[in-house]
Amino acid sequence: MARKTVALLPSTERALEKVGANIKRARLRRNIRAELLAERAGISVDTLSSIEKGVSTVSIGAYAAVLFSLGMEQDLELLGEDEEEKRRYRELNLKMRERATKRPKEKKIKKGDGPMIYITGDCHGEFEKFDIDLFPDQKEMTKEDFMIICGDFGGIWDKEVSGGWETKMLDELESKPFTTLFVDGNHENFDRLYSYPVEEWNGGKVHKIRPSVIHLMRGQVFTIAGKKIFTFGGAKSHDISGGVLEYDDPDFFKKRMALEENFKSYRVDHYSWWEQELPSEEEMREGITNLQAHGNEVDFIVSHCCAASTLVLIGGGKYKRDYLNEYLEKIRQSVQFKKWFFGHYHNNRSVNAQEILLYEQIIRIV
Ligand SMILES: [Fe+2]
Repeated sequence: MARKTVALLPSTERALEKVGANIKRARLRRNIRAELLAERAGISVDTLSSIEKGVSTVSIGAYAAVLFSLGMEQDLELLGEDEEEKRRYRELNLKMRERATKRPKEKKIKKGDGPMIYITGDCHGEFEKFDIDLFPDQKEMTKEDFMIICGDFGGIWDKEVSGGWETKMLDELESKPFTTLFVDGNHENFDRLYSYPVEEWNGGKVHKIRPSVIHLMRGQVFTIAGKKIFTFGGAKSHDISGGVLEYDDPDFFKKRMALEENFKSYRVDHYSWWEQELPSEEEMREGITNLQAHGNEVDFIVSHCCAASTLVLIGGGKYKRDYLNEYLEKIRQSVQFKKWFFGHYHNNRSVNAQEILLYEQIIRIV
């Protein structure tokens, strides 16, 4: 087998040449002939000649034998020694590592036979997390694979019918190699979202924003990639401490200025807030009926907000429960599910073994 030579930088070669010259000078200072030193070190005269030239292919054992024969073996112990680094470790009270951190294994996605499902949290109309460098798994994806967004999609937001920015952004999403599915959150323009025709898709009702950008409506049970998924979007906004203003209120501008002067957050009805952020009686009834039709058993639940008891676990009393949390709690108590994914609370966290809060993170579930 051919011997592998190590490619050295010129500066390293120069350093080795200096080591060789130092060894030669030490030999001459001691007035030892090359033949005698080679004999004492148990190497050939040619090898000693190479060492004195700093040749890199000579074994470190031969270098060590020569240094030992010259009484300079302590010099070997200084190789790799770094007093300055040791001092810094002592000062910072750092523990010296036993071994270097293992290089993380490169994650290679296994496509498998069937479609894949990924899931993530709120987007608010910004889809940079699906850029190829942030989400490289898409290289293996096709339109048969899915990306689910747990509400606050935000891609249908402008007041009027799609403007330039919104059209461009939705077209970009459509051009992705996967199919985007989303439940709604409390940051969607419901006037426009609900103006799309309702269609049947994979067992439930949807709005198709683009052929492969699809809104999964509330209270539906879809069969996607062989998995039963119950969807229930919507949530109560908790960033409206100043209330909701009506644009046609004669005092609109006065009220808005007062709120802004007092740094209060507010929204404007039909411009940045819609009452449909919370579900209707009919949507909630439909959810119960559809779940019963599937024997109250699904693989996954995807929602924007969470069940009332889960809210306590994630907020510790910080969030006020509303009737949607109570409704989802009933679902939680009566339906068998493997995992429940939700967004809204802008964090990435496994609340327990079954319930997972997502924000920027993208995880594969199938
Ligand atoms: Fe959000």
